[in-house]
Amino acid sequence: MKSFIKGLPKAELHIHIEGSLEPELMFELAARNNISLPFGSIEEVRKAYNFSDLQSFLNIYYAGAGVLINEQDFYDMTWAYLKKAHAQNVRHTEIFFDPQTHTNRGVPFETVIYGVHAALVDAEHELELSSKLIMCFLRHLSAAAAAETLEQALPFQDLIVAVGLDSSEIGHPPQKFTPVFDQARALGFRTVAHAGEEGPPEYIWQALDLLKVSRIDHGVRCVEDTRLVERLAAEQTPLTVCPLSNVKLRVFDSMEQHNLKELLGLGLCATVNSDDPAYFGGYMTENFLAVQQALALDRDELQRLVRNSFEAAFLDQAERQRFIQELDSYVADTSR
Ligand code: HPA
Ligand code: ZN
Repeated sequence: MKSFIKGLPKAELHIHIEGSLEPELMFELAARNNISLPFGSIEEVRKAYNFSDLQSFLNIYYAGAGVLINEQDFYDMTWAYLKKAHAQNVRHTEIFFDPQTHTNRGVPFETVIYGVHAALVDAEHELELSSKLIMCFLRHLSAAAAAETLEQALPFQDLIVAVGLDSSEIGHPPQKFTPVFDQARALGFRTVAHAGEEGPPEYIWQALDLLKVSRIDHGVRCVEDTRLVERLAAEQTPLTVCPLSNVKLRVFDSMEQHNLKELLGLGLCATVNSDDPAYFGGYMTENFLAVQQALALDRDELQRLVRNSFEAAFLDQAERQRFIQELDSYVADTSR
């Protein structure tokens, strides 16, 4: 099963690039940029990765991102993620970035996007790994700040497929961002939003009805609302579920209690993703392995999860069909 999972051609749809910054590279960049970290050693950093909820993680995640200063830093972080993804047979990835985490520290928007984008171009050529970029607004900041960020992104619009919404969920409902999402859609961006990770089903309704999202990021709390589950199933709205993240941030007490198998059983378009792999203990293969073992997922369920992510990706139909064929051939070849 382990080699079957590792070899599966995969798509990743929920990865915060700042969450792929491993402690080793964090230390290297801190030294390169003369920044002092609140940790004495790599072991100390890893020990601090003991979270009680989303906010306790975000505090450390924003501090870690403080070592990113120059274009090369963003390139190195992104390239390290892409190499790792490639080694796990991720064939397509849709990457979140949080410009405000950097522009609020005085790092120019173009430094961030040029550094990340250069690595994506190299991955396309050298690793045959395709990708898209999704720009997230930090929801604990104001709607006006999000609008300003959208404005800053306009010269780079051809590099960004969609806008999203992340950071502290509770107390920051999607509704707060309706006007800026309206503006983004009018400009041609697709939309996604984190909803129903820690927040209530009501936030998922708002993401659908007000932000008109193509996908819900996380969404695991949808099961508390039968009508919502019916809507998500009828429209096959993808949920980008992140199993290791959910256990690390105590959305579920253990992997055995995760509702991924239930979501599939309800006919929902669930997918598996890593969220912030450097902080939560694993990339795509580790996420699949952990849920497969805890919930005894069979090969059909694994194939369904991966197929869902190709269906849910912002790909054109020809690319989508090519990936799904690759997946189907892989499954057929490994069952003989
Ligand atoms: N939720 C909200 N914001 C985030 C996350 C998450 O899981 N990861 C990085 N920013
Ligand atoms: Zn996330």
